Amino acid sequence: MNSPTKQTVQTLRLSVIGTGYLGATHAACMAELGFEVIGLDVVPEKVDLLNSGKVPFYEPELEEVLQRNIAAGRVKFTTSFAEVADFADIHFICVGTPQQSGSYAADVSQVFGAVESLAPHLSPGDLVVGKSTVPVGTAEKIAEILKISAPGVEVVWNPEFLREGFAVQDTLEPDRLVVGVTSPGAESRMRAVYAPMIEKGIPFLVTDFPTAELVKVAANSFLATKISFINAMAEVCESAGADVVQLAEAIGYDTRIGNKFLGAGLGFGGGCLPKDIRAFMARAGELGAEEALTFLREVDQINLRRRSHTVDLARKELGGELRGKTICMFGATFKPDSDDVRDSPALDVAVALANAGATVVVHDPKGTVNAERVYPTLTYSTDAMKAAAHADLIIHATEWMQYREIDPAELAKVVSQKNIIDARNKLDVAAWRAAGWNIRALGRPTA
Ligand code: UDX
Repeated sequence: MNSPTKQTVQTLRLSVIGTGYLGATHAACMAELGFEVIGLDVVPEKVDLLNSGKVPFYEPELEEVLQRNIAAGRVKFTTSFAEVADFADIHFICVGTPQQSGSYAADVSQVFGAVESLAPHLSPGDLVVGKSTVPVGTAEKIAEILKISAPGVEVVWNPEFLREGFAVQDTLEPDRLVVGVTSPGAESRMRAVYAPMIEKGIPFLVTDFPTAELVKVAANSFLATKISFINAMAEVCESAGADVVQLAEAIGYDTRIGNKFLGAGLGFGGGCLPKDIRAFMARAGELGAEEALTFLREVDQINLRRRSHTVDLARKELGGELRGKTICMFGATFKPDSDDVRDSPALDVAVALANAGATVVVHDPKGTVNAERVYPTLTYSTDAMKAAAHADLIIHATEWMQYREIDPAELAKVVSQKNIIDARNKLDVAAWRAAGWNIRALGRPTA
């Protein structure tokens, strides 16, 4: 990449601070749109890996997009805030906001850390664009900090809605773009950044800071509520002998309800939905609006109950005793097409079963390395058939396509007992029963 000073360059030059799922994808995709991009991470190994065209996590298509744009000289990575500020004048903050330990609230230290590190290098006219998911009020605080440490630098809040597994597609073709601004100048610069998308007709919503910040947590809260709603129905279905899969299909035809995010099963996990609804509750409490969000506590409880319910079901299927039994988990990641095991329902269940005395063998197509880092005492296998050998019970915990393609008759040959729990409601129950399996699906009739 040639590097004339930023003032002489006509093409927009962007920086992306933080190269996790959000930042690495945003950097590569902005380069794909034709911008010149520099990404920053404080971990030198990550920067080296990205500069060599490798993505430090699994995300379909991302590595190809990254390599194509490195080759075209449109994206590079650094650890230097000075280099970033020298190169670009629009800076996207994409660092993580994990749950604080011992609290529901979000830990925003990386966001403020990034702003503080960047501020001394910024010039008047630069734009700091927040994409991280933050408690409402954060953008305003950043603007106040920058007013003193980097006068003339403006803040924009531009939440990101990408799903892991579809991150490239969601970044290049989002459902909508939301920008919280405080000046027409900032709005027009954001319109320039997203011009290729706006031209395609993608809705571009301009709001104030708090609305932009709230849009993200409101969207995630709604999605989490939808999943917990159908999982609550699954609990009732189990008691009533009804079928939650058919129920979801039937209510989903009502276009006011819609058929998406009505997949009953082991519930939601990952680095976003669980911590975002908790952080939202914590922030509402600080603002004196805690009553408005008490329902999210129930959403969280219903979700966590799916995990304990699956452990109870496993115990029941194995005659009331887990000690001495061998259980194979199909899936370790929080969702398919990802290697992310953060708050993974599958791993939570695996650990609970192991703590109750079962020998647990975990299979996952992409997640075993990350899983082993967090739970080194479980046994892992990258071969599904080997993982299932001598199992008394299999639990289908993450809906990778590979598990739907398994021949139940072939799997029957390697296990000790033909017991399976479909905790994601994605297996063909009739086919498994026909192959002689005792299959239990969450929220569905026993036979
Ligand atoms: C989510 C939001 O979808 C995204 O817009 C936001 O930017 C980040 O958080 P992600 O965490 O990648 O994205 O996963 P998502 O596809 O939303 O799934 C979250 C969890 O819900 C997964 O564990 C998934 O298995 C579970 N899920 C999803 C269900 O249990 N049932 C469903 O019907 C859908």
